[in-house]
Amino acid sequence: MTPAPAPPPQTIVIFGASGDLARRKVLPALWRLARGGHLPERYAIVGYARTGWGTDAFRAEAHRAVREAAAASFDEGAWREFEGSLSYVSGPYDEPGGFARLVEHLGGVENERSTGGRRLFYCATPPSAFPIIARRIGEAGAQRGARIVVEKPFGRDLGSARDLETVLHEVFEESQVFRIDHYLGKESVQAILVFRFANSTFERLWHRDSIDHVQVTVAESLGVEGRGVFYEEAGAIRDMLQNHLLQVLAFLAMEPPRSLEPEAIRDEKVKLLRTIRPFDPAEVVRGQYTAGSAGEVPAPAYRAEPGVAPASDVETFVAARARIDNWRWAGVPFFLRTGKRLARRATEIAVVFREVPAYLFEGQGVAPPVPNHLLIRIQPEEGISFAFQTKEPGPGFVPRVVDMDFSSRSLEAEALGDYERLLLDAMEGDHTLFIRRDEVERAWELAAPLLDCPAAMETYPAGSFGPAAADTLIAPRRWHLRAEGGSL
Ligand code: BG6
Repeated sequence: MTPAPAPPPQTIVIFGASGDLARRKVLPALWRLARGGHLPERYAIVGYARTGWGTDAFRAEAHRAVREAAAASFDEGAWREFEGSLSYVSGPYDEPGGFARLVEHLGGVENERSTGGRRLFYCATPPSAFPIIARRIGEAGAQRGARIVVEKPFGRDLGSARDLETVLHEVFEESQVFRIDHYLGKESVQAILVFRFANSTFERLWHRDSIDHVQVTVAESLGVEGRGVFYEEAGAIRDMLQNHLLQVLAFLAMEPPRSLEPEAIRDEKVKLLRTIRPFDPAEVVRGQYTAGSAGEVPAPAYRAEPGVAPASDVETFVAARARIDNWRWAGVPFFLRTGKRLARRATEIAVVFREVPAYLFEGQGVAPPVPNHLLIRIQPEEGISFAFQTKEPGPGFVPRVVDMDFSSRSLEAEALGDYERLLLDAMEGDHTLFIRRDEVERAWELAAPLLDCPAAMETYPAGSFGPAAADTLIAPRRWHLRAEGGSL
C-alpha cells in the first residue's frame, strides 16, 4: 500500500492547551501522527491558554501527557525532535491583547519553521469559549485561509446551537469549520460505509423487507469520572444520543452517496436525519445509576458523585426508539441505548433480520427460533459477525446458532486512533468525517421533545445493564450485546 501523502505545511494552534482535552487527546494524537510520519513535512504546534506557562513549561507538560498516553511505545529520542515544534503563548480570551501577541508569535514561528501561512485553530476549550475565540480570531484578521476545529457539544439545544453557528459564521465560512464528533473518527464506524457499499449481498438485504429491527448500544463501564459539573448540564441525551448515536444511525441507514466526495456523504446523512421523526418521550427510557459496583469495587450513586446535585434529575442512561419515515425503513424500529456505569464497556450494533416465514424445527429442542443477525462491534474489540443456524450433529434436525466471525485484529494493520484520523483530515481540509451545520441543527430538532420535559426517571444499580424499563421498550424483542453474553 502506498502511504497517503502528508498534509501541506501548517501551524496547529491549540486553544485551551493547558486543559484536559489537549492533554488526554490532542497532544498524544499529534505525537502519534508525528511518529507514524503523517504530519506535514514542516509543521509547528502552538499552545494558547490562560495558564501562565512559557514554552518550557508547556513542553514539560506535553512530555508528561504524551509519555503517559504512549506508555511503552514512548521514545525519548523521537520526543526531542517533536518537542522542537512546540511553543506556547499565555493570554486571556476576554480581551484582545493576548490574541495580538499570539498572532505576532505565529508570524515568528511560521518564519522560523517555514510552515507557510496555513493555520489550523483547534478549540480544546469548554464550548462556552468557542464564540469569543472565533471573534478574537476575526478581530485579529487571522481567519483568512485558516480552519477552525470545534468539538461537541455544539450548544445545548437548537436555539443555542444556532447562536453558536451565527457567531462562527460571522468570522468563518462553512468550508473553514470542522465540527468533531469523535465517533466518526473510529475506524469501525467508518467501516460501516465500506461494509454496506462494497458488499452487494448485505446491501440487497438492507431494508424493511429483510430487516426486523436494528439496535445500537454504547455501553460505558465508567461513571462521570470527575466531570460531574459538566455532566449535570448535559446528561446522556445531550452527551451521547443527540450526537454519537445519531451519527452511527446515519451511517447505518443512509442511502448510498453518489461518490466519496465529502458533500455527497454529508448530503445523504442530512437527508436521512430529516426522515427520522423527532423522538417521542413515550418511547424513551431515562435512567440514573444508584450505588452498585464497578468491577470488583463498590461504586457510588450518580447523586453522590462530586459536582452532582443530591437530588439531580439528570439521566446517565437513555434508551430510545427511532422511527424513520422513508421507503427503505418504514416500520423498522431502530433502538438506541447508552449508559454510564454499565456492566461492561462495549459499543455494538445488531442488525436483526426477519424470521423465516414458517419454522419447521418447532419441538426440536431449541426455542424460540433465533433470527439471523449481524453484529458490528465498534469497541473495545472491533469486528463483524453473522449469526445463523446450522444442524446440531446427532439425531433429528436440531438447529444450533453459530457465528461467522471477523475480527479486525486479523488485518494486522495499525489503525489510526479517532483523534489522529480527525486531526489529519482537518489538516488536509477533508470534511467527510465532520459534522455539517445543517446536521447539527437537525439532530437538535430530533432531540428537542426530550429536552426539559423528559420521560420519568428510572434507576439502575451501577454495574448492571440499565433499567428494566429498557427491556420493556424493546419487547417482545430483546437487547443483544455479545459482550453481555446476551442472545436475542
Ligand atoms: C464523549 C462523552 O463525547 O464520549 C463522554 O462526552 C463519553 O461522556 C465519551 O464517555 C465516550 O467516548 P468513547 O470513545 O470512549 O466511546
